[in-house]
This record gives sequence, C-alpha cells and structure tokens, in this order.
Amino acid sequence: MGEKENRARLEVEVGNPKESLGDLFGIFFEDINHAADGGLYAEMVQNRSFEFDPVDHPDYHALYAWEKVELGDLRAEISVETQSPFCAKNPHYLHIKVCGGSAVRQAAESLAGICNLGFRGGMEIKKGEAYLLACYVRAEDKKPHRLHIFLKDSAKNTVLGSTVLDVAGGGWIKYEAVIEAGEDSHTGCLVLALSEQGELALDFISLFPKHTFLGRRNGMRKDLAELLLALKPKFMRFPGGCLVHDGSLDENARNSMYRWKNTIGPVEYRPARRNNWNYNQTLGLGFFEYFQFCEDIGAKPLPVLPGGYDPHHQRIVPISELGPWIQDALDLIEFANGDATTRWGQERAKMGHPAPFGLEYIAIGNEEVGDAFFERYPYFHKAIKEKYPQIKVINTASPFCAGSEYEKGWSNARKYHSDLIDEHYYMAPEWFLAHHHRYDAFLEEDPKVFLGEYASWGNTWWNALVEASYMLGLERNAKAVGLACYAPLFANVSYVNWRPDMIWFDQYRAYATPNYYVQKLFMDFQGTRRLAVDAQISGERAVTENRMEGEIRLKGDMAKIQFSEIAVEDAATGKKQFFDGFVVGQGEEKSLGSFGFSHYVISCKAKELEGVRGFVVQFGVQEENNYFQVGFGGWQNLDLFISQRINGRGCDLTQRWFEVERGREYGICIDVSPERISVAVDGEEFLSVALKETVVEPLYYGASVDEKEGCVIVKAVNLQKEEVGAELVLKNDNAPGALFARRVLAHTIAAAPEQENDFDHPAKVSPVTKELAAGRASWTYTFAPMSLTVFQVWMEA
Ligand code: AHR
Repeated sequence: MGEKENRARLEVEVGNPKESLGDLFGIFFEDINHAADGGLYAEMVQNRSFEFDPVDHPDYHALYAWEKVELGDLRAEISVETQSPFCAKNPHYLHIKVCGGSAVRQAAESLAGICNLGFRGGMEIKKGEAYLLACYVRAEDKKPHRLHIFLKDSAKNTVLGSTVLDVAGGGWIKYEAVIEAGEDSHTGCLVLALSEQGELALDFISLFPKHTFLGRRNGMRKDLAELLLALKPKFMRFPGGCLVHDGSLDENARNSMYRWKNTIGPVEYRPARRNNWNYNQTLGLGFFEYFQFCEDIGAKPLPVLPGGYDPHHQRIVPISELGPWIQDALDLIEFANGDATTRWGQERAKMGHPAPFGLEYIAIGNEEVGDAFFERYPYFHKAIKEKYPQIKVINTASPFCAGSEYEKGWSNARKYHSDLIDEHYYMAPEWFLAHHHRYDAFLEEDPKVFLGEYASWGNTWWNALVEASYMLGLERNAKAVGLACYAPLFANVSYVNWRPDMIWFDQYRAYATPNYYVQKLFMDFQGTRRLAVDAQISGERAVTENRMEGEIRLKGDMAKIQFSEIAVEDAATGKKQFFDGFVVGQGEEKSLGSFGFSHYVISCKAKELEGVRGFVVQFGVQEENNYFQVGFGGWQNLDLFISQRINGRGCDLTQRWFEVERGREYGICIDVSPERISVAVDGEEFLSVALKETVVEPLYYGASVDEKEGCVIVKAVNLQKEEVGAELVLKNDNAPGALFARRVLAHTIAAAPEQENDFDHPAKVSPVTKELAAGRASWTYTFAPMSLTVFQVWMEA
C-alpha cells in the first residue's frame, strides 16, 4: 500500500453491551410481481377456479390459461357457467360436453378436454416427483365417466405422467389423485380429458408438487421458501404494500381491499380477488398460511391491515361505520393468539394449528397520505391497546422520506403513542450515502422507526453494498430504529411490476441478488445487543457536492401549461434575466438555457390550460440523467415534490399535499442553492429541503454481541476502490488484560460494483467464509475494495 493508504483501528468494547437489537432485520413479503400465485405459493394451475376476470387485468377472462384439447375424432364444447356452482363465492365453473366419435373410445385414440398452461413459461415437472391433483366434478349427464389426467410437456407434446379419475354419475364431488412424473419438463401443462362422449362440470382444478416446503399441503414452493428460511429473518411483514389498501371498501367486491377474513378456511371457498398489481389473487396463500410460514421460518409475523381508507382512490369509511374494520383487527389478534375456545382461535385450530401463533406486532395502514387516515388510526389504536395492551401497534409515515405528510404521520404516531411508525423510501444509492446519519438524531423516547420498505434503485453489488453501509447506520441507531426490511422481496421474471427485487425466479429457477446476500449477512449475524466501537480511521472521505449549475426547463406533465413572467436571478449579484412567456403542450418542455451560477431564484407564473398532473420546473440539468426538479401536481395531482434524478435514478427529497386547479394562475418562486431548495407559491413559503452532500466514508463499521450464540460480531463496509488495512481489537474495560478468541470466522463479499447475479451465475456475488487463526482477540485484516466483511468471534471463557 502506498502513502495514501486507508487504515483503520477498530476497538470493540465487549464488556458493556448497549441497547438490544431486538427484531431489527426482517423481510417484507409483498404480493407483487406474482410473488404469491405463480411464486411462493406452490399451486401450479393458473386460474384453477375459472374466476379470472377483466377487473383483475384487461386480458383476463374465465378461461384464461386454459385451452381446449381435441385429439382424434372427439370434439369438446366448453363454456363457463354459473348456475349451480359448488361454491357461491366462486360461482364460475367449466362446462364441457364431449361429442363426436362413437359412444365409447379408447383413451389412446381420441380425447377431448382442456389443458391448463400454468403460469407464464409453463409448469415445472420433475422426474420422480409426485403431484397432487384435486378437482371438483359433477357429471352433468348423470353418468359415470373416466376422466383422464395427463401431465404433458407442451413444447414436445409428450406425456410426463398420468392417472384417471373414476367420476360418479352424481353432483359435485371432490376428487384427489397423485400423478407420478416419469420425465422432466420446464414447460409442462395439465390435461383433463374424456375419451368418450359425456358432459361434465369441472371446478377448482388444483395441482401441487408433493414436496412443498416442509411437505405442507397447500404449501410453498420449496426452493423459494428455502431462500427465505436461509435469511433467518427476525420478522415477516405481509401481505403488502399498496395491495392492502388499494380497493373497494366492500369486502365482497371483486376489487376489495385486502380483507383477511376472505383468506382463511378451505381454499376452494376463498373468494378470488383482484390484486391491485394488475393480476388475480386466489388467496390460497392467506393469513393462516402466512402465519404458519412465519413460524416455519422462525420469523415473527407482522400483518398489515387497511385503516378504512384507500388513498389511491380517496375511498373513506365514515367514522360511524369504522366498527367492523376495527373488529377485523381485534379478531385477527384473536385468530393469531386466542386459545382454541375463542371464536377466532377456534378457526385457527380448525385449520390445523391449535397452538397460538404468538403475534406481537400489527400494522394499521401502509403509507397512507391524508387526514382521513390519521383521523381513523386512533380508533384502531385505542381498541387494540384496550384489549391487547402487549401488542405493538404500527402507524405509518407516508411513502415519502420527508415533508408534510411524513410529518403528519410522525405527529400522529407521537400523539397516540404508536409503538412504531412505518417509513418507506426507494432512492438512488447516492441518497443513501448522503443520509447515512439520518437516524442519528432520532429520539429513543419517540415511537420506533419501522423501515418497512427501502431499496436503492438496482440489484448491482454497488447498490447492495451501499445498502449494507446504510444498515450499519440502522444498527447503530437501534435505540430509535426498531425494525427494517428491504422491498420488494420476490419477482417472477415473467410478471414484473416493480424492480429492483431481492429474489428473482421463473417456474423452475431462482437466484438471489447481491442485495439478498447483504440482507442475509445482516440477519444471520445481527446479534442481540449493540457493542460500542472506538474507531481511528485514516483515509479520504469522497465527497460529491451538489451541482446546481446547468440548464433550466419548464414543462407540462400531462398538461398544456402557460408560463409567463419568467425570470432567473443570480443570487450572488442580484442580476435578473427575463424571458418571454410561452405555452408548452402535454409532455413538452422549453429550455431557458444553461446557467453557470449555483445560487439562483427561478420565478414564473404557471397556469394549467388543459390535461392533468400539472407542471414541472427542472434545474441544475447536467444531462438527461442528472438534475433537480420541482413537480406541481404529480401522479394523482395531490403532491408538490422536490426531487432529484441521480444517474437516471429518481429520489423524492420531500413532498407536500398540493392540487393544481386548472385555469388558476400560480406565482412560483424557487430558491436554489447547493445547500437548500425552497419553493414559494403565491408569495407563501411552501416547501423546503436541506440538501446533503454525497459522502463515501473511508470505512463503515459496527459491532454487536450474539448472547445466544455466544459470539461477538464485527461488521465493516469498504465502499472505496482501495483496500483498507485494519487492526481489530476486542477489549473489556471491566476486565483489563488481553482477551483470547477460540474461533474467528470472516464472512466476506467482495465484487466489482457493477456485478449482478443471474440465473446462470446465481452466486457470483455471494459470501465466502474463511476461518482465521485463533489466539489473541486482536488481529489484522485487509478489507478488500468494495467489500462487506462480518467477523464472528468466539471468546475463550
Ligand atoms: O414495494 C412496492 C410498493 O412500494 C408498495 O406496494 C408500496 O407500499 C410502495 O409504494
């Protein structure tokens, strides 16, 4: 190493453990990107109950994912009926009339029926695996029939396995069978067919691999579940996300909000529902299964319930009608924790789990914005605390990291003594670097932060490593930060609503991202209590200052906007440049030119003439991917945002509720400097944000003790391109003298910043574990460039 080498000495005080780290690092299972149906939930049949509907997705219909099969001279007439279903909540079923051919046929010659294609890509069939088929059948012609079932490869048209169901000539009967697969296929499908004339009604056609996670019926896909088990999460938040609160207030409506009572009981009786991410949810993975899965992976359950308000569509339950919504929350706690004699505890016991699940946390709402939520939250809080004082109730701080709605969430949480408050943000890595110290000033006596959703925009090693440095900030502030989980967790590559995601999969493969491996190291080696670290570090901090010089542009979002009285003032000299007014069409922009000063004031009048979503002022435009902007109106015409785009990644720095009224002229004034952006509207200061420099420290570090495992944990993140030569020392101020380590493990991930994992290289970026020499509990180590290292040290008694 040369003269400018980075060096660190980390002294860890093991004799005086600090605050508990509690349940700090967990996961968030959100049913987005087909994470449940077509994902973790191992059901292989798509649209098993013929309930797909255009409400879920414009392309859907009751026969979606089903095809007619006709071989030889038999013909199938298929239709979807609703007259006399076996389950009124799922009224659609398939009616099939097989005709043609002679009265009786051999299966090998002629067949007519239907085929399910599974989720996009097809079904994964494994040689030697057993598949559990279930199916409701009614013989419409009152005659007995042999229903032939095949697993086939849809690409090669070969049979992979088969069985027959002897269908009685009566009403609805549930049939079950096991099919052994003799061949492998990633493009499998399921065929049900008659080899003779006949008329049947079919419904709830379900197929699961026998070997689900832990062999559970109605269970989870093994490989995906095992990835979650391996994380060792302390808790699991579920089932969303926007899914929870985006929907009708009527629990019986097809597009209802996520109402947990719809999701329990026998699966075939659970009503199909629209998932707000534009697909269908069978609710086969329902609250019982979520609780059981949490127990199976050792994570505390953290359910999220709607608070009687849909912020996406401003649907609001009148306070006088909030009772059933609050009762849902109380009943859920009883479902999870009540003994088997209670009304809801009994439901749980009937489903096969007489013992309580031990629920400790409940969240009301998911990033709600608006007074309607905050007027309703206290009713939930009070009722829960009165009946279940030990349950920790979680409030919500909007989808923004700062601003008026965020503050509203916090003041509501303080006022009603919420145990935790749920913060969400998705940002560029640079934002995470700039805000490493975000929680340093948060107070221990306030509600604890639940960082319920966060991610830097990307799945590269750089993104993951920046997240690791940020997580050290969370760990360091465990007095104020109670829980944190990355989001989203899963994405089926064929159905992407959102990226980045922690785990990617198709119908037969999965790979964990670098972000997953960072989370894994932090969960695996969280520790039970924080330890103080004395650090002496030499090396350069890499600081990137905010550059406000650059182009200024005025834009219509999806609106035609008239701009007038436009001026830009150089704050240093007071010199003003004036510009002629103009009109920009929808999505159009006009540049005022480039400006070389860093502190300036942009002023103009703006009026929306046509369209929606208001207007935008961009400034400090270096090039297409790097600039600041103030947006008036935004996505739902409810927001005023100050945002930054960094290397093409958006960061909403702060927000305030704001509606652009068409035809009204607004006087806008934006004061820009590298330290702050302030926005005034019609002479009134409206929104302001302090800007932070992006800083890369020479080293990030933290330590904890795992009292159960009996080891000390030291973590270090090196985000620099140079290695850091380090000396690590464990000391005990209560018992001076040398300490001895009987075992030291170093778990390290080091990679090029742009590196990602993929299906072909699923572990390219993943931890490598090395055993270091035992002896004195002080050792030297070289932290590789771009690395995360976690030491586990077991001391001599
Ligand atoms: O995780 C993706 C989405 O981001 C969640 O549904 C929502 O809570 C947030 O806006």
